[in-house]
Amino acid sequence: MELQILDSKTKNKICILERVPASASVEIVKEIFHKKFPKLYPSRQSFRVEPRGKSLKDSEFLSKCSLGKDNTLYFKDLGTQLGWSTVFYCEYTGPLVIYLLFYLRLPFIYGDSFAFTSSKHQVVHIAAACHSFHYLKRVLETKFIHRFSHGTMPIKNLFKNCSYYWTFAAWPAYLINHPLYTPAMYGDVQIYVGLVIFILCELGNYSIHVALRNLRPEGSKERKIPFSSTNPFTGMFNFVSCPNYTYEVGAWIAFAIMVQCAVSVLFATVGFVQMAIWALGKHRAYKREFSNYPRGRKAIVPFIL
Ligand SMILES: NC(=O)c1ccc[n+]([C@@H]2O[C@H](COP(=O)([O-])OP(=O)(O)OC[C@H]3O[C@@H](n4cnc5c(N)ncnc54)[C@H](OP(=O)(O)O)[C@@H]3O)[C@@H](O)[C@H]2O)c1
Repeated sequence: MELQILDSKTKNKICILERVPASASVEIVKEIFHKKFPKLYPSRQSFRVEPRGKSLKDSEFLSKCSLGKDNTLYFKDLGTQLGWSTVFYCEYTGPLVIYLLFYLRLPFIYGDSFAFTSSKHQVVHIAAACHSFHYLKRVLETKFIHRFSHGTMPIKNLFKNCSYYWTFAAWPAYLINHPLYTPAMYGDVQIYVGLVIFILCELGNYSIHVALRNLRPEGSKERKIPFSSTNPFTGMFNFVSCPNYTYEVGAWIAFAIMVQCAVSVLFATVGFVQMAIWALGKHRAYKREFSNYPRGRKAIVPFIL
């Protein structure tokens, strides 16, 4: 068959792909298109049936897509792609290093008189340990736990995501490690309550990541409905679709309680809003994909959202 390829933005004709097998999948179409346009490797190609529609998955077959009488597909260039894990490593190693630069009080940060001095407040050291632990955990999880189904993402995500994570590491780090920082209003009680919740949420987040890993056989892109296991932290699956996000938000709220810093509250809030948007999308996708999806679950906040 002949496939007409139009630009999804301008609707101008890009090319005609000839002799495409009618039984071909989108993956095959991408390979044929790549041969015609060597710079547009498959992972930066997106094909849609409608100009503003959803990208077709590689595994979808042309015979199952409603291509219209002209056999038309709309093409969008997703731009230069980077490995999914590479983006995650950049996102997470940044905060790890940046926070510690402030913790060490490098000379240019608070002036020479405070260079390489150490805070007299114990909470400052606890906060540095928690922050470093969190990002080290995420680097190690990216390497050893997560089984991603996506190979790549657009390079522009690297700049967007790194700006977000790096700024929200540097800003509170500057304030918490500042020589004039004053610790929590309710003293040790507030600090240790925050610390305990932080540790529990980190354990919860890790447990959910392991549970999600165990859902997907190695090398596959399979998706299944997650359920709670013998690990009590996975019990959160009985209430929400994305408990890893619930625990992540919990950890940052706990961190904010511990250090009593307004910017940490802001980071927890922005993180919550972003993760809530993603969780609602994932929750809807679960319900669409699995007719037997448990009805009582919410997306991210038990009983509420
Ligand atoms: N602080 C913040 O602002 C912030 C924001 C976002 C994330 N995070 C942290 O980063 C972690 C990872 O984020 P994420 O957005 O990648 O989490 P995610 O979408 O829940 O995915 C985690 C891993 O589980 C896999 N997975 C998810 N659902 C699955 C299913 N039903 N069956 C099989 N595998 C499944 C995912 O594969 P796929 O590749 O198929 O999705 C991915 O490898 C979060 O849990 C959170 O701790 C923090």
